[in-house]
Amino acid sequence: MLRKAICPGSFDPVTRGHIDIIERAARTFDQVIVAVLTNPRKSPLFTVPERLEMLREATAYMPNVSVMTANGLLVDFAREQGAQAIVKGLRPIQDFEYEWQMGMVNHDLDRDIETYFLMSRNEYSYLSSSIVRELASFGRDTDSLVPPGVAARLRAKFSES
Ligand code: PNS
Repeated sequence: MLRKAICPGSFDPVTRGHIDIIERAARTFDQVIVAVLTNPRKSPLFTVPERLEMLREATAYMPNVSVMTANGLLVDFAREQGAQAIVKGLRPIQDFEYEWQMGMVNHDLDRDIETYFLMSRNEYSYLSSSIVRELASFGRDTDSLVPPGVAARLRAKFSES
């Protein structure tokens, strides 16, 4: 059986923490689709094409990883792609309630798709796209927090405004 997983998220922008989760998923599953989806609770800084481009550059060295976007529900996208699994990173405390709720809803929506949580590594446990955006908005360097190329795009984005 081909084991295919979706790594979903807003990725606004992709961080080194996301890449760590994607790498670990790519070692566990035959194929991984990184899916840029809409989180109705967030107003993104980067457009979807910008986020896709950053993700494609950052994951280019992983041969079993592809990057896509989708509208609508995550489980519908997973089913259309023939995926059996959703993989998400879980940071200490802050993520649990939301991820637990999403995991439960997605299970109700499609019982054939399993959600797997990978605990974030210690060094990324405090890292989030929103922290990265906030640091960049104050002109701080974010190179150590994001894949190569993303910090420059953040600088460009904040110098536009
Ligand atoms: O990186 P994020 O913002 O935590 O990712 C959340 C995301 C985009 C995966 C989530 O909002 C999502 O799955 N959006 C698609 C709509 C959906 O399926 N919602 C869950 C059922 S209400």
